[in-house]
Amino acid sequence: MKNPFKFGTVVDGAFFTDREKELQSIGQLLESENHLVLISPRRFGKTSLVCKALQYIDRPVIMVNLQSVTTVAELAALLLKRVFKIYPFEKIKHAMTHFRFIPTFSVNPMTDGVDVAFQPGSDNNVVLEDVLMLIEKLGEKNKFVVVLDEFQEIVDLEKGLDKYLRSVMQLQHNVNYIFLGSQESMMTEIFEKKKSPFYHFGVLMRLPKIPYDDFFRYLSKRFAPMVLEQPEQIAEEILSFTQCHPYYTQQLAFQVWNMLEQKNDVEKLVDHAVDELTRLHDFDYERIWMAMNKTDRHILAVLAQNITSPLNSRRGIPTSTAFSALKRLSRQGYVIKNEKYEIDDPFFARWIYYRSL
Ligand SMILES: Nc1ncnc2c1ncn2[C@@H]1O[C@H](COP(=O)(O)OP(=O)(O)OP(=O)(O)O)[C@@H](O)[C@H]1O
Ligand SMILES: [Mg+2]
Repeated sequence: MKNPFKFGTVVDGAFFTDREKELQSIGQLLESENHLVLISPRRFGKTSLVCKALQYIDRPVIMVNLQSVTTVAELAALLLKRVFKIYPFEKIKHAMTHFRFIPTFSVNPMTDGVDVAFQPGSDNNVVLEDVLMLIEKLGEKNKFVVVLDEFQEIVDLEKGLDKYLRSVMQLQHNVNYIFLGSQESMMTEIFEKKKSPFYHFGVLMRLPKIPYDDFFRYLSKRFAPMVLEQPEQIAEEILSFTQCHPYYTQQLAFQVWNMLEQKNDVEKLVDHAVDELTRLHDFDYERIWMAMNKTDRHILAVLAQNITSPLNSRRGIPTSTAFSALKRLSRQGYVIKNEKYEIDDPFFARWIYYRSL
């Protein structure tokens, strides 16, 4: 039997669960003139959710990840390249007469796709505006959806780009933008701070973990053919360890399934799988740990013991220092905040916990 769990890349079909409410909200939003801002910590399922929502609509879609570009001209070129994937150059060249800087095109012999580049020295903002206005024009027939992943990177791309981008985007009527981001604090600055050009530019949605009951059913059903007796027990043990984190739940379930296939005893199986995965990452965790300062290590050690609020742990660290450490660790993605602060990666938490014993 094929392992029914998947982690790391976009999930769809049988690998995808729940998110009914979110799918409905995104669907409604895309039918309106509004834009969506979707925020969650890393690997909660933003990309999978958006891809799923887009399957239900018949609209041209462009997706770019801002982490994969280093200049505004590269961003413009990437967007244009995506346009050509939907509409061949020959068919739309008449719509490009407004371009103030002419890009160069070359056929990539490896992929047969078209590579696009703007000459050095072109005015970056103008180039980006021209591409966005092309998308606007093409969207007259069928409105575009443009997904900008890791949008918080906009801040580092070029000074003042946010202001310029907003001034162009607000004139567009044939595009719905979806802004994705995993840096909660930066995304909030961009979309929630009054002074920011993107203040309230889109409907803000925070993606939570997958609800327990749904994940429980999902896991039990998939383990049922493997462990006829107690699939629910396995599901429960997995979720109690991962706390419903979408990625780590799938990762642990994948491991447990593999171990079951090797005819391991169900007794303590989840524990063994957790140990195995923790050991597998030992080297990475060690490296991360060694690069951290003492305060960060202390905070993580307290969190790994599952103490409700690390700010209350009186071990000689002033509350303000503990608070800035928590903020720093959140920015770096090691800590996430739900009802309380917690370590994002439960295997790392386990590793830290063992260390402090
Ligand atoms: N709806 C879902 N059902 C089941 N598993 C899911 C779901 N959404 C996400 N996952 C799990 O989480 C993993 C990460 O999903 P995805 O890449 O969509 O998240 P992301 O938030 O876009 O991550 P990143 O921050 O790395 O961009 C998937 O590979 C899968 O294992
Ligand atoms: Mg993603």
